[in-house]
This record gives sequence, C-alpha cells and structure tokens, in this order.
Amino acid sequence: MANKPVIMDHPLIQHKLSLLRDKNTGSKEFRELTAEVTMLMCYEATRDLPLKEVEIETPMAVAKAKIISGRKMAFVPILRAGIGMVDAILTLVPAAKVGHIGIYRDPDTHKPVEYYCKLPSDIADREVIVLDPMLATGGSAVDAISLLKRKGVKTIKFMCIIAAPEGMEHLTTAHPDVQVYCAALDEGLNENKYIVPGLGDAGDRIFGTK
Ligand code: PRP
Ligand code: URA
Repeated sequence: MANKPVIMDHPLIQHKLSLLRDKNTGSKEFRELTAEVTMLMCYEATRDLPLKEVEIETPMAVAKAKIISGRKMAFVPILRAGIGMVDAILTLVPAAKVGHIGIYRDPDTHKPVEYYCKLPSDIADREVIVLDPMLATGGSAVDAISLLKRKGVKTIKFMCIIAAPEGMEHLTTAHPDVQVYCAALDEGLNENKYIVPGLGDAGDRIFGTK
C-alpha cells in the first residue's frame, strides 16, 4: 500500500502559501516565500532522521545528548523550479549533496521531456529528497524518481508545495514506496494541465521569465 501523503497545513505554511498564490506577488518575494515554505516543510520531511547519543560537556556538567547519525542525504531539484527550494533546504542540512534533473513539459502533449541529469557519484548510497514546487499531472516527478531508482537509489521522498489530485494519484500509484510531502492539495487541473487554483507557472514566477 502507498505511503499516505503528508499535507502540511501548519498556519505559517498556509499563510506563506497564500502570498505565493497571489498574482501580485513579484519574483523577489516569490523566491523568498518559496525558500521559507521549503524550510518549514523540511522540518517535517526530516522528522525520521536517526539520532545517536553522545556525551557533551556543557559549562555545568557532562550531558548525554543526541546528534543526527550517519544517514547520508542528497537533494535533487527538478529544473527549473526546484532550484528555488535548494538553498533553503541546504541551510538546514548543509552536509547534503545536490543532484540536478532537468525536465520540462512538452507544451502540446504536457508529457515530461528529460534534458539534463547530473547526480552525485554515490547517489545510490544516499537518502534522496526530490524537490519541485508543483505536482500537476505527476509526469515530471514520476520520471525523475524512476531515473533515480534506475541509478540504484533505495529511499526517496518527494517534496512539493502544491499538488493536484491527478498528480498525487499518478505519483503514489507509480511509486507507492515514495513518501510525498506537500503544503496543499488543490482542486485539479485545467485544460492546459495547470493546477487550479495553483499559483501559475512556478518557474516563470521564480525566475521572472515570461
Ligand atoms: C513545471 C514544474 C514541474 C512540472 C509539473 O515545470 O516545475 O516540474 O511543471 O508538471 P507535471 O506534474 O504535469 O509534470 P515546467 O515543465 O514548467 O518546467 P520549468 O520549471 O523549466 O518551467
Ligand atoms: N507547472 C507549473 O509551474 N504550474 C502548474 O500549475 C503546472 C505545472
């Protein structure tokens, strides 16, 4: 059975998401908000990181304390829009490596087209979080995750900001082992396969194109 998607409805995330959706939010603020939402979501997506006990000397005494133990991570943004999430998550997990997968949707068929892939050489030994703000039809996420599995990656999470029910169904059916995190599950897709109400084209809003 597929992992149940985690929908993060924390008030801070919902507030920032509303600002992201607003068509009057410009690129600078959009980038900042994308980073802030990513950091808040990272908190939940890393909840299961294993800890180990160590001894630390405080100014007062020796304390048994916990630190994150061993699990090596990699973040893989789907270009372009996923880039908007990378720096934020690296702020919290600076030791992680970063791979890039370039995929765009064909404007006529809306099917994903892969055009770039550069991954850490030890990607198969790492737990991977795939980053993309939008899960629309799910084609891009499904293909990116299939590629990572072909490279030998065993543990994969997918973090997006807005998902359409169609994309969520597609992804959880194709990759039931992948834990999905999102901030909102929207109504659906329009005739051009854009999420409604969504926030428009995430890549264009982050980079100011169009
Ligand atoms: C967007 C978005 C996802 C994809 C989602 O990228 O960032 O990667 O669409 O759609 P899907 O779930 O139907 O595959 P886009 O193709 O617009 O490329 P861009 O980021 O380079 O603009
Ligand atoms: N890609 C986006 O950036 N937005 C959508 O609504 C769908 C795909």
